[in-house]
This record gives sequence, structure tokens and C-alpha cells, in this order.
Amino acid sequence: MSVNAKVDEKVRDHFDDDAVRFDAIYEDKKGPLARFIDNVWRGVVRKRLDLTMEKLSPLKGKTVLDVGCGSGRYCFAYAQRGATKVVGVDFAEAMIKIAMQLANKLGVADRCEFRVGKFPEAVADGPFDASTAMGFFDYIADPVPIVKAMREKTRETMIMSFPKVFEWRVPIRRVRFLLARCPLFLYTEKRVRAILAAAGVTDYEWINLDRDFVIVAHLKS
Ligand SMILES: C[S@@+](CC[C@H](N)C(=O)[O-])C[C@H]1O[C@@H](n2cnc3c(N)ncnc32)[C@H](O)[C@@H]1O
Repeated sequence: MSVNAKVDEKVRDHFDDDAVRFDAIYEDKKGPLARFIDNVWRGVVRKRLDLTMEKLSPLKGKTVLDVGCGSGRYCFAYAQRGATKVVGVDFAEAMIKIAMQLANKLGVADRCEFRVGKFPEAVADGPFDASTAMGFFDYIADPVPIVKAMREKTRETMIMSFPKVFEWRVPIRRVRFLLARCPLFLYTEKRVRAILAAAGVTDYEWINLDRDFVIVAHLKS
């Protein structure tokens, strides 16, 4: 088995086990201690969602691809803001199961399609008006082909987050992922810019958001 395939297997197993806990970050019903811990350690998860909605608005009539969609929270938000077709792809079956249940509960299942599979292999269709990959490159050993594939499947805007290597929470995060036996990839600004250049992404906004670099790439000339 190749190194990349081993990484994928470990990441998938981790998120299959962790799906319910991960999705709970988006739930407001929790005690003050749990809320405090989520704000300090995982507050970026909510901030990324808010920033993405701001940057992709207006979404009315748009098609959107969400790579590494997890429990589908971005996909629901796209559909609720008027996107006509949203495709979410994730190789962790437990994440997709939650996404499908929530899509039904929220009444957006007719506009959201969820696929269990690896990106880019699981997405033969497209292009989409926009694509997003948030909290995703943390788990990708070789990002250039992924960014390239996203670019090929996107007409207008791509939004991606890359976790910073120099950040005060990194040592604890590294230990947490080591104990969970899940690979974790962190980035310098120089490396992210090199990845974007190698993938042919030249026109982008650079945003420092908490523990992440967020890239908003504009593909229309
Ligand atoms: C931290 S979660 C983020 C979920 C979602 N984007 C969010 O922010 O709520 C990262 C997700 O990426 C998925 N993933 C990682 N590598 C993948 C790949 N190559 N193809 C499909 N899914 C992948 C994992 O299974 C996991 O559910």
C-alpha cells in the first residue's frame, strides 16, 4: 500500500469513529465548559463556516461542490441560502450518514447530494460555480493534485483552509492526533503559496483566520 493510501485509510478510520463528536461542534446545546473548550480549541470550525458564507454570497441559483464535507454543515447552509445543487463528498461513511439524516431533517435533501468516496475520484461531474474544502487539507499528504482537481471542477470561486504550522495550539493538537493515530499536515505561508502556484491558482485573497490560512480563489477573468 502506498504512503498516501495509508494516510487516507487512517484519516477515514479516524473520522468514521469521530463523526458524532465532530458534528457536535456545530450544536449550540451544550454546557458552559464544553462551550469554552470548543471556542478555544475548535472555534475556528464555526468561524470558517461564517467566513465562507460571507465570501460565497449571494448563492441563489448556484451549484456548489464541498470537498471533505464531513457531516454536511456547509452543504445545508449553501442550500438554505438558495444554491440549487450542492454535492458533498467525504470518504468517511459515518460522516455522510449524519449528513443525509440532517439534510432530511432540515428539508434540504432535494438540493443536497452526498457521496461516500475519495476526492477527486468520487466527483466525475461538474464544473460547479463554487467549490470549498474547509478543514480538509489538514489530512492531505499531497495537496497539489487535489487543488488542481478542484480548480478544474470550479467556474468562479474556490475556498480552502490550510492549518498554520506556527500557532500556539499546534503542540497540543499534534499530541491529540498522535494519540488518535490520525495523520495531521500543517503549513507555512510559503508552502501554501507554492501549492497554489503549482496547481495554477494565481488570483486569490489571503485571509489569516485564527489557526488557519484561508484562501479565496477567483477563477473568472
Ligand atoms: C475535519 S473534517 C471537516 C468537515 C467539514 N468540511 C467541516 O468543516 O465541517 C475533514 C473531513 O475530510 C474528509 N476527508 C479527508 N480526506 C479526504 C479525501 N481524500 N476524500 C474525501 N474525504 C476526505 C474526512 O473524512 C473528514 O470528514
